[in-house]
Amino acid sequence: MPSQPERIVIESRAELAAAAASWIAAMLSDTIHQRGQATIALSGGSTPRATYHELATRSDVLWSALTVLFGDERAVPPTDPASNYRMACESLLDHVPVARSHIHRMQAERADLDAAARDYARLVPDHIDVLLLGIGPDGHTASLFPGAAALDERERLVVPVQSPFPPPMRLTITPPVIAAARHVAVIVGGADKAGVLVRALEGPFDPHVLPVQLARRGAWFVEREAAANLHRVLQ
Ligand code: 6PG
Repeated sequence: MPSQPERIVIESRAELAAAAASWIAAMLSDTIHQRGQATIALSGGSTPRATYHELATRSDVLWSALTVLFGDERAVPPTDPASNYRMACESLLDHVPVARSHIHRMQAERADLDAAARDYARLVPDHIDVLLLGIGPDGHTASLFPGAAALDERERLVVPVQSPFPPPMRLTITPPVIAAARHVAVIVGGADKAGVLVRALEGPFDPHVLPVQLARRGAWFVEREAAANLHRVLQ
């Protein structure tokens, strides 16, 4: 039986960022207490921006013990408005004392994306401590899109992929990285996600159709508008 969510937190847009940031801070603090350090992989898109702003204000994160990775990146320069790295810097990384040498962006602007993927994979630990993900309107997560060959990748940790959404080329972590993560959170915003969310959490388990189901076991932080169709998992 495919796993069920560890938890589902439903809040207003304003409250959701605080709830997600609190959970992230707690997971990081627990990990650092146990291991002396922690690795977080940040999600892209627009939804996490509010959570990152909240996270930047928290005083209970030992930022000096953190290594920051990314779950995916668009094939654009890091200064491009579409860059996940740029969004993370604007909303979080430029505002907290994480050593710049501990922040590893995916160099998806390189001409040789396969080489960039192989180089980045060397930075990915056996188990990411806190993996943050989102959900696209088609059920994608990171840049794992429905029907993509990358969904069958079992060896490589990072691969180049084509995207049905612009920009057309990206780098993404693969299913083994999601499976190996110690703590996974999916942050869901917008009424436009209500349909795909109920399929992801209550429908048949098939990550080839709904790649975000690779994270079904995680903690889900859902804006109230996006949770409108949820029934079974809330019982
Ligand atoms: C990306 C993200 C992607 C994102 C979803 C949701 O690079 O776009 O990694 O997986 O989480 O597309 O995006 P929004 O938060 O903008 O709806």
